[in-house]
Amino acid sequence: MIGYVFEKVVKPPYVRARRFVGNALFDRRYHVETDGEVSIAELGLSDPRSVRYQPAGVMRLRRILPPREVSEDDVFIDFGSGKGRAVLQAALHYPFRRVYGVELSERMHEIAQRNVETCRNRLRCRDVRLIRADAATFDIPDEVTVALFNNPFVGGLFEAVVARLLESVDRHPRRLRIVYGNPVEEDALLRTGRVRPVRTLRGWRPEKEWARSNAFRLYEVTR
Ligand SMILES: C[S@@+](CC[C@H](N)C(=O)[O-])C[C@H]1O[C@@H](n2cnc3c(N)ncnc32)[C@H](O)[C@@H]1O
Repeated sequence: MIGYVFEKVVKPPYVRARRFVGNALFDRRYHVETDGEVSIAELGLSDPRSVRYQPAGVMRLRRILPPREVSEDDVFIDFGSGKGRAVLQAALHYPFRRVYGVELSERMHEIAQRNVETCRNRLRCRDVRLIRADAATFDIPDEVTVALFNNPFVGGLFEAVVARLLESVDRHPRRLRIVYGNPVEEDALLRTGRVRPVRTLRGWRPEKEWARSNAFRLYEVTR
């Protein structure tokens, strides 16, 4: 009984409060604006396969991919980089050689540019390239070795970008890891027959759907 009350009553608000404080502290600490949700309409997007802006929790990337597992030869890309929260995480805490962020919404892209400029002097990786483009048509640099999808889009759009990523590896064989947050299209990813799940980070949440939406997975692309 006590366990049930803790799980259902005490823990949910605790988890929400912890996340709220963590996100707010990140923005305050770095004098940036990455928090909050932005609807598709507010993003100025029309493709129903695009997903609203909702930043990754501040510790998610570092927990699914510890910085010690990244080298100075690695290059990071965030598909659907929004206000640049994950781009900043990658550039602040990892030894990446280069960090890319690809974002379709002009409004998000401009905020991300401001955010990166604001903390440029604190970045471990200073080579940050923010590109305003549709990920579906963006030419993926053949140097990318870590790709993040924090549920930026679904359906055929997601499949098309994954196909381009795999083509890039075939063109220029290399180790490629994929981080997928809120992996709603995981089946499509696994259907390619080219990825192997390596690690899962389950965010504790009281309901199944809510728990999935907070999950992060790491995959290794196989040849
Ligand atoms: C869930 S947010 C992810 C934000 C960021 N990656 C993070 O983790 O903090 C999804 C983002 O994908 C962007 N997006 C949606 N469709 C896109 C597309 N076709 N090309 C590029 N970005 C897109 C949205 O504008 C939104 O900012």
